[in-house]
Amino acid sequence: MQGIRFCATGAALPHTSISNEALSQRVDTSDEWIRSRTGITARRIAAEQENLTTLASAAGRLALERAGWDPKSLDLILLATSSPDDLFGSAPRVQAQLGASSAVAFDLTAACSGFLFALITASQYLRTGAMGRALVIGADQLSRWVDWNDRSTCVLFGDGAGAVAIEACGADQDGLLGFRMASDGRKADCLSLRQVASRQELIPGISSQLGGFEPIAMNGQEVYKFAVREVPAVLQELLKSTGTKPEALDWLLLHQANQRILNAVAERLGLPEAKVLSNLAHYGNTSAATIPVMLHEAVQAGLVKPGHLIASSGFGAGLSWGAALWRWSGPTP
Ligand code: UT7
Repeated sequence: MQGIRFCATGAALPHTSISNEALSQRVDTSDEWIRSRTGITARRIAAEQENLTTLASAAGRLALERAGWDPKSLDLILLATSSPDDLFGSAPRVQAQLGASSAVAFDLTAACSGFLFALITASQYLRTGAMGRALVIGADQLSRWVDWNDRSTCVLFGDGAGAVAIEACGADQDGLLGFRMASDGRKADCLSLRQVASRQELIPGISSQLGGFEPIAMNGQEVYKFAVREVPAVLQELLKSTGTKPEALDWLLLHQANQRILNAVAERLGLPEAKVLSNLAHYGNTSAATIPVMLHEAVQAGLVKPGHLIASSGFGAGLSWGAALWRWSGPTP
């Protein structure tokens, strides 16, 4: 079995930022409410010339540059997204924009757990030796699916993309030390972006469903309770199964949904706040993009260094959740 090396990151955020104050022109909310309940102060919204594909491609391109890889050396592009430009998949368009002509490219849908699930999935192709290099992208443009008149959801989400370049390496240098993934579809209604229920008559007596989706619907309190229960539990299981003491971790890298969730998970694990990576104040919840965007910023800022041990967890719609323990390597010297 091959090992997995975590080589480089990239990120792309739309330029347009909407502050809490600006948003309160649209819905009955306030900077004080949003900041104290979530830690968010602003979110980025894709402009007219931007979309899921352009953001994902820009993040991917940066990761390839940082890795020093020829795009043609890629075997796989896995795009975690729940808001593609094309329901048949946006990954092939990203592949074309990157000029990664040898790579197979496809989408993976698992909402806010998407990046973590995609990273674990891609790593299995590398482990078996079936593939050598993969680009894992987490990208979402939820601004197109949020009800901008619903203050209970619209203040939370933003658009963005992040990418991580991984490659197969010797088993003795393996950087993916363990993972866990879980789903509970019985709670799917807690957070959903559902197909519209309307139908059209085709010919007398036969109708078909109309395409299209309802805006995001969420039971915030249920999702909050689920996150603070399952995320510490899955991380604790992972640490136990890999024989890792929490104090051995350099960083806790969680899906950026709510600062109160980040703090509660860290507290349960007995980790100091200084080890909790957080950037959601600036971007809100960018769904599949939060983990790779945060990782990119932490690597760029020199916080995450080669050899650092990172425990990561994604969670959200599905309901779905998971965790992975990895050692950051950085580009091959
Ligand atoms: O990727 C996973 C995605 N989702 C999550 O992680 C969400 C997890 N849940 C949460 O983060 C929190 O539940 C929220 C931030 C969504 C909400 O915070 P909360 O402390 O659970 O608030 P709440 O839903 O209990 O609402 C409290 C009050 C309500 O008013 P009343 O009924 O007490 O009068 C809401 O109507 O706050 C009101 N409210 C707002 N007020 C001002 C809800 N949204 C807003 C708002 N501005 N934007």
